[in-house]
Amino acid sequence: MKRPIVQLVGTGRYTPSKILSNQDLERMVETSDEWIRERTGIRERRISESHETLAYMSKVACEQVLEVAGLTPQDVDAILVGTATPDRLLPAAACDLQAELGAKNAAAFDLGAACSGFLYGLSIAEGLVASGSVQNALVVGAERLSRITDYTDRATCVLFGDGAGATLVQPAVDGDRGILSTYIKSDGTLAELLYRPGGGALCPPSEQLLNDRSYFIKMAGREVFRSAVRSMADACDQALQQAGVSGEQVDVLIPHQANIRIIEATAKHAGIPMDKVYVNVDRFGNTSAASIPIALDECVRAGTIRSGSLVLLVAFGAGFTWASVVVRW
Ligand code: UT7
Repeated sequence: MKRPIVQLVGTGRYTPSKILSNQDLERMVETSDEWIRERTGIRERRISESHETLAYMSKVACEQVLEVAGLTPQDVDAILVGTATPDRLLPAAACDLQAELGAKNAAAFDLGAACSGFLYGLSIAEGLVASGSVQNALVVGAERLSRITDYTDRATCVLFGDGAGATLVQPAVDGDRGILSTYIKSDGTLAELLYRPGGGALCPPSEQLLNDRSYFIKMAGREVFRSAVRSMADACDQALQQAGVSGEQVDVLIPHQANIRIIEATAKHAGIPMDKVYVNVDRFGNTSAASIPIALDECVRAGTIRSGSLVLLVAFGAGFTWASVVVRW
């Protein structure tokens, strides 16, 4: 088994208290609680209020991480934020977070890898710390998907929720504890199966954009589903192989929380029984880049992940992007 170069220290999360239930959605679009639960596993999702900005939610999650790590914001050398929903298109969400946190000594930048953003962040942070230029890197996954969701489109509006999660990457100090492998991959030829057509430099804000609702997320669900199952299986294989471990050795699998059927297919492929798979998609829906760090924090605080646990993290999202990380906690 590989010796880790970096370790993860501390976790944190923020989820808004406002709940949007399947019953609420039944009153908004032609759908049913039964359809949503059977096809996705989702019962409810959290929706941010206006004061719950991406920077605010991220800051709360990061403060929890720093408290566990015994560090101050000034100790942070780098802030990496995986998000598809920054508070503003310019500057980066990570810079707004840096200001809110008072992390004045950090470099700050975003990662545009959609639902895989948090795992892309861990992979990049591992490299930054391994190079010796960074000692403490905050890695955040945060989303306000409710802000780019079309609540007249039943194919997407039942899926998404808001939230933030974070952890800290540091040089490994303790023998075999830390990141054992990372794997990141993408296929840009499939971008238009899951995307926001308008609002960027190609199609700037206009009356037309508002009229055709191209500011919102569009998704070809069935095609995305098939690619997600295939790519997450690939990601599990790659990360396990590089770490030199098998699925049977994994104590906890945290897959991206998009759909319970994708989660089950991923676990089955990796040879990991469902009692070792963490699922919170029923409570939070799909929070994109935030889904894995929120789940990670829930697992760590509940004691499901403890010192020495072998953890497999795996994600898939728009791009398409997919990624995986094996970590000895
Ligand atoms: O986070 C990054 C990646 N995202 C994902 O991984 C999401 C991947 N995709 C999925 O999770 C699933 O494809 C969905 C949950 C989005 C859809 O489930 P599905 O089993 O693939 O359904 P479908 O799109 O094939 O639609 C089946 C039927 C259609 O009706 P017809 O054509 O069979 O009459 C849809 O119009 O279900 C209909 N439908 C709905 N019915 C009630 C679609 N959305 C809804 C809805 N309520 N909300």
